[in-house]
Amino acid sequence: MAPRRILVTSALPYANGPLHLGHMVEQIQTDIWVRFQKLRGNECHYVCASDAHGTPIMLKAEQEGISPESLIARIQASHQADSAGFLVGFDNFHTTHSPENRHYTELFYERLLAAGHIARRPIQQAFDPVKNLFLPDRYIRGGCPRCSAPDQYGDSCEACGATYGPTDLKNPVSVLSGATPVTRESEHFFFRLGDFEQMLREWTAGASVQPEIANKLNEWFEQGLQDWDISRDAPYFGFEIPREPGKYFYVWLEAPIGYMASAQDYCNRTGLAFEDFWGVDSSAELHHFIGKDIAYFHTLFWPAMLHGAGYRRPTAVHCHGFLTVNGQKMSKSRGTFVMARSYLEHLDPEYFRYYIAGKLGPAVEDIDFSLEDFVQRVNSDLVGKVVNIASRCAGFIGKRFDGKLGGADTALIAELTAAADTVAAHYEQREYAKAMRVVMGLADRANQYIDQEKPWQLAKDPTQEQRVQAVCSTGIELFRVLMTYLKPVLPAMAGRSEAFLQTTLTWDGLAAPLGTHTVATFTPLMNRVDMDKVNAMIESGKGTAEAAAVVAPVAATAPAQAPQTLPVGPEITIDDFAKIDLRVARVAAAAHVEGADKLIQLTLDLGEGERNVFAGIKSAYAPESLVGRLVVVVANLAPRKMRFGLSQGMVLAAGPGGKEIFLLSPDSGAVPGMQVK
Ligand code: 2FM
Ligand code: ZN
Repeated sequence: MAPRRILVTSALPYANGPLHLGHMVEQIQTDIWVRFQKLRGNECHYVCASDAHGTPIMLKAEQEGISPESLIARIQASHQADSAGFLVGFDNFHTTHSPENRHYTELFYERLLAAGHIARRPIQQAFDPVKNLFLPDRYIRGGCPRCSAPDQYGDSCEACGATYGPTDLKNPVSVLSGATPVTRESEHFFFRLGDFEQMLREWTAGASVQPEIANKLNEWFEQGLQDWDISRDAPYFGFEIPREPGKYFYVWLEAPIGYMASAQDYCNRTGLAFEDFWGVDSSAELHHFIGKDIAYFHTLFWPAMLHGAGYRRPTAVHCHGFLTVNGQKMSKSRGTFVMARSYLEHLDPEYFRYYIAGKLGPAVEDIDFSLEDFVQRVNSDLVGKVVNIASRCAGFIGKRFDGKLGGADTALIAELTAAADTVAAHYEQREYAKAMRVVMGLADRANQYIDQEKPWQLAKDPTQEQRVQAVCSTGIELFRVLMTYLKPVLPAMAGRSEAFLQTTLTWDGLAAPLGTHTVATFTPLMNRVDMDKVNAMIESGKGTAEAAAVVAPVAATAPAQAPQTLPVGPEITIDDFAKIDLRVARVAAAAHVEGADKLIQLTLDLGEGERNVFAGIKSAYAPESLVGRLVVVVANLAPRKMRFGLSQGMVLAAGPGGKEIFLLSPDSGAVPGMQVK
C-alpha cells in the first residue's frame, strides 16, 4: 500500500503562561500517534505553534512592563523546552505572530468578505473608562447576584456556583482599573456561520468526529448557528483588519489559521508543497488533536472558514477529555496543578508517557493521574516486565557469548509478532490503553518463558551451554518485538534499546529476527519510579499556590450560609506560613463606605504608618465601635484595587459571616507593628 501523507496538529498553546500536565496529555497523545505513523512508514508531519495574540497577553505584558513581543518570545521558548522535555517531536513549531499567519488571516478575510460571509453591526459592550478598553467578561468583578459574595467574576460565582452575565453583578468593577464599567457601542465584524450549515452537516456525517462530538454538533445545529463576532477594538495585540483602522481580528479567528501558518513555514524550510496538504483537492489527511473545551471552534468555525476560503476541510478532529489528579480537578492548593517543568525536575518523562498511554482511548473522557497507581504501574509494567526480560538475558549473552545471539526459538518470536496488526489497529484508532494491554500480555508471556527455561540454572550445567544461548537469545528477540511495539510511547527507551540491540526498530523489521547478531553491552534502560520523587513534585507545586489560598480571606468573601465546621484546609509547610507577614495594628479610624453594603473602611496604624483597608465586616460591627481596638492584619498582601479605592492588607476574622464575624485581637500590651507568629 502506498504510504499515506498525513498532516497532524495539536492545539496551539496560549502564550501567557507555562504548560501544565493537561497540555502534556494532549501533546503526548498526538505525538504517540505521529510516531506510530512514522514507524509504519507513512509520511507524517506534526506542526504546532504559539497562540500569541489577544487581550490577556497584551495585559500581562503591560503588567510585567515589557512588550508583548518579548513576553511571547519568552513563553514560546519555555513551551518548546517543556514539550521537548516530554519527548514531543514537533516537525515544526511556529507562532501566530508571524508574517505567514498575517498573510493567511488576511486572505481568509478577503475571500470570506468577497463571498458575502462577513457582516458588520454595532454591539453594546462593557467598557473601562479609565483604561479605555472594552472588557471581556473575565475582567469584570462584582457582588454575586445570588449570594452577594463580593469580588466574583463576570460569569460565575466561586462562593455559590451561580452563573450569570457581567451586567447582573452587583456593583461591578473593572479588574484592570477598579472603575465602574460603562456600556458603550462599537461596530463589530461577524462571520456568518449559518451560511455553512448544510456543508457542516455533510462534513460532520463524513468526517471523523467522535460520537459524543457528533451529538453535540447536532444539538448546535438544532439550536441554530449564530453569527460569530470576529473583531475586537483597539487596543488589542493582534492583526489589524485591512482597511479598518482600530479594528483587529479576534484571536480565535486567527489561532486555527496558525496551523496553516506553521505548515507554510515548514514547507518553506523543507520544500514540501503547501497545496498538497491544504488545497481543496488534497489527497493528504489532516488530523487535529484538541481538548473537548474547544470542539466548537474546530468542528464548526474552522471547517466553515476553510471551506469559505477555498481550502480543504479536516479529515478528523480528535477530542480528548481533561486530566484529573487523584480523581480531582487539578488544584494549586493541593499541589496537584502540576506544571510540565515541575514534573520534569523530578521525574522521567517516559513514566508519564507510558502511564497516560495506558489510560487513553478514543472517547472524550477525562483521564486520571492517580499518583500511587502511577508508581505501581510504571514499576510493575515497564521495569518489572519489559526491562526485566532484557536484563535477565543480556548478562549471559554478554559474558558467555561475547554478545553473540543464536538459536532463538522462532516459533515463540512469531507468537509475539502475530499481534502486530492488532497493536497497529489499536494505535491507529487511538486505543492506546488497549495497545498497552496487549503488549503487557505479551511481556508476561516472555517472562513466563524465561521462568520456565531458567537460564540461571542451565548456566550451571556445562552441557547446556547452547541451550543458555538459545533461551537468552529468544528473550532478547522477544524484548526487541516488545520495544518495537512500545517505540511510539517510549522513544528514548527505544533509542537505548536500539543501542543495546545494535539495530533500528521498525514495524517492517518486526518479522525479521536478529538471528546470529552481536548485541552491545547492556546498560540499565529505565529506573524504578520512586514515590518520594512524586511527593517532592507535589510539594514543590504547593509552593506556587497563591497566599490567598493559604489564608482564608474571611473578611472579604465569607458566604452567607457557611457551614459551622469547615474541613481543615490543605496542609502547608512552615515556609508557606513564613511568607505571610502578620502584624498587630490599631484601628485609627473606621467609616461607612458609600454604596457598599458589606464593607467598612478602616484606617490602620501599623507602627510604620497608616494603611487603608476595606473589610467585609459591616454586618457584625458598627464602624464607631472599632476605633482604638487592636486587630491582626496580613501586612504583605498585594494591594488590591477595589471600586472604592485601594485596599492595602487584610484584617483577620473568624466565623461564617453575617452577624457571626469575630475580629481577631491580640491581648492588650501588644503594640502596632508587632509581628504575629
Ligand atoms: O485553548 C487554547 O489554549 C487555545 N490557545 C487553543 C488554540 S488551538 C487553535 F485553534 F489554534
Ligand atoms: Zn454567589
